[in-house]
Amino acid sequence: MWWCGGLNLIFNKKIMSNYLDTTKDVYKEAALTPDVGLCCTTTPVWQLPGLKIPSKMLQMNYGCGSTVNPRDLVNDPTILYVGVGGGMELLQFSYFSRRKAAVIGLDVVDEMIAACAENLKEAEEQNNWFNSEFIDLRKGDALQLPIADSSVDVAAQNCLFNIFTKSDLKKALSEMYRVLKPQGRLILSDPTAEQKMPDSLVNDERLRALCLSGALPLQEYIDLITSVGFGTVEIRAKRPYRILDPSQYQTKERIYIESVEVCAIKDPMPSDGPCVFTGKAAIYFGGESCFDDKKGHVLLPNQPLAVCDKTAGAIASLGRQDIFISESTWHYDGGGCC
Ligand SMILES: C[S@@+](CC[C@H](N)C(=O)[O-])C[C@H]1O[C@@H](n2cnc3c(N)ncnc32)[C@H](O)[C@@H]1O
Repeated sequence: MWWCGGLNLIFNKKIMSNYLDTTKDVYKEAALTPDVGLCCTTTPVWQLPGLKIPSKMLQMNYGCGSTVNPRDLVNDPTILYVGVGGGMELLQFSYFSRRKAAVIGLDVVDEMIAACAENLKEAEEQNNWFNSEFIDLRKGDALQLPIADSSVDVAAQNCLFNIFTKSDLKKALSEMYRVLKPQGRLILSDPTAEQKMPDSLVNDERLRALCLSGALPLQEYIDLITSVGFGTVEIRAKRPYRILDPSQYQTKERIYIESVEVCAIKDPMPSDGPCVFTGKAAIYFGGESCFDDKKGHVLLPNQPLAVCDKTAGAIASLGRQDIFISESTWHYDGGGCC
């Protein structure tokens, strides 16, 4: 019935505007009063020569991992960072790209932008290499980036995308894909959960905004990333994050949440599907000089070759007794096949 669709649309719009309002309220509060531990994980904060992070910036570290990796940051890249928090990762990125507006920082919460600007001024006083003009800090929504197509080398978000509903997450990923140059890299850090999150938690706007109940299973998260076009995905880290226990949350079973760091590369999509690296390696230990799968993968005796899950599966399906395929380490940031 036509009116059912209409009502659904109105209902969905209402839920969406509520969750966006709640997110803004939560982060307005977190900008005005630093909330140490809001999203914290076991990830250590980068120590780099000559880098000093102001204490308020550290207190406002609302990330659930790190998106800064020197491997992505060679050749003075232009970097887009969405959802700035206290600005710690803006400062860390800027360490690698020291020129005016090399790092663009966007956020939708005015109070967060103001707090971040203040922290960057403090960072300027503590770091003689840093000039806050290196960062172009402004208002902008992850769902509609005010950024030109194919204009940035690296795009990053830390602990923001999990807040979005699945359709908004897809929109946010498509926006990141649009603004990246070919071969550009999107670095993400978000909570994931393998157990089904009860609807009572999924629909709890405040828990979503606090990065607790929007977590998807990792495969679903990867599928959304590849569905917008990213041809290569690297799972760089997977760490314990939170427990949602029935004694504190509306859930029948205890839910274990992890946080992941992922790099998605704007490579062309291979005809047989994306290359997703989860840290597997193939080791040939037969008597020949090598094993060649005739698809570009040559295994030298007893030398591990990092392979994507697709290649790992193809080699395993050959049923050879002289090739070992290791389990996923969930720690991969370059090298190997494809
Ligand atoms: C969990 S905090 C993470 C902050 C920062 N990335 C960090 O690692 O410390 C989420 C950030 O995203 C911002 N935010 C929320 N919704 C947004 C949106 N639609 N577009 C851009 N930023 C948003 C919040 O104001 C907040 O700064």
